[in-house]
Amino acid sequence: MIKLGTIGTNWITERMIEAAHATGDYLLTAVYSRHEASGEKIANGHGDVTVYTDLDQFLSADDVDVIYIASPNVLHHSQIIQAIQHDKNVIVEKPAVLTQYQFQNILDELSLHPQVHFFEAARNVHMPAFHVVADYLNDVDGIDGADFTFSQYSSRYDKVLNGETPNVFNPQFGGGALADLGVYPVYDAVGLFGVPERLAYYPTMISTGVDGKGTAVLNYGDFDVTLNFSKISASTHNSEIYHGREIITFDSAGEVTEASIIRENQRQILSPLYGKNPMIPEMSDFARVLNDPDNEQNQADYHRWLEQMQNVNLVLSRLANFAGIEYPTKLEED
Ligand SMILES: NC(=O)c1ccc[n+]([C@@H]2O[C@H](COP(=O)([O-])OP(=O)(O)OC[C@H]3O[C@@H](n4cnc5c(N)ncnc54)[C@H](OP(=O)(O)O)[C@@H]3O)[C@@H](O)[C@H]2O)c1
Repeated sequence: MIKLGTIGTNWITERMIEAAHATGDYLLTAVYSRHEASGEKIANGHGDVTVYTDLDQFLSADDVDVIYIASPNVLHHSQIIQAIQHDKNVIVEKPAVLTQYQFQNILDELSLHPQVHFFEAARNVHMPAFHVVADYLNDVDGIDGADFTFSQYSSRYDKVLNGETPNVFNPQFGGGALADLGVYPVYDAVGLFGVPERLAYYPTMISTGVDGKGTAVLNYGDFDVTLNFSKISASTHNSEIYHGREIITFDSAGEVTEASIIRENQRQILSPLYGKNPMIPEMSDFARVLNDPDNEQNQADYHRWLEQMQNVNLVLSRLANFAGIEYPTKLEED
């Protein structure tokens, strides 16, 4: 069993624990929170789990193999570095970090701790439907373009409209649409087509000073991929890849729970609906590597994910740069 410790006590941590336990590979052993009661809420119902309110004591715990980090984006970098320095494997929520410098800094730290594994929880590219689409595109000669959309109205935008600044819409916390839902379509594009030759990002800035939504255009020479993502409006658009008379389609760019191909109005299912907790495939993939790190296939997958993560970080950094968005490197306390 992989012994799991968590940072961050919002709903996503509970969803990840549910997925981790569903794989049968993990056991929750430790929870960190700044507040005992929030930690207890996460630990509750999972048996013998220690709740820590001191980060260093949590990171020093002997009965923790991997740390899942679901804190505000701006805190990821320092928490990842500290976890690696304590020889803990890391699964960090997207976006892993906010700048290219931070990413390089993590690679440097990993080289000092070669036994440590570092994963980004970008669940969409671990979904069965994503693999089916990628395999299909491997056998396709050339594509004509793609449109990926992931837009969900955030209930926390109501707070913005009421004059508050929740973390996800706070520039000091690395908030905004690109560093949130935007990560998923960037992952889809980089995972399927690689790093674009040219790119542009046109954000809609909101009162708190972050991008509430935006459109990015990634140019791959012969074709363009358009990414639409929003936290201040919703969309039911499917994601589409154009190939002559064919449309390869999957649901939202962030979910990728099913995939089809449409030819002359006839739909053929490529990958049926994945109806379970969508964090199961990624947690299962990470467990495979952690359980058998010397396996050749596992090593190849791990290095491919690490390279993909770096390419996504590069594309996100360039998109932010294009739009004049600067992310904070650390949390400035008031
Ligand atoms: N994969 C997905 O589907 C998904 C979904 C949602 C979010 N996410 C990612 O998960 C991460 C967390 O997002 P979120 O919306 O849950 O963030 P959040 O609610 O703002 O904060 C998450 C947790 O971080 C801790 N925290 C909050 N403010 C802090 C501060 N000032 N200093 C130190 N710790 C603080 C809190 O835990 P304690 O109070 O217990 O310390 C809180 O529960 C982000 O990277 C986001 O992109 C992923």
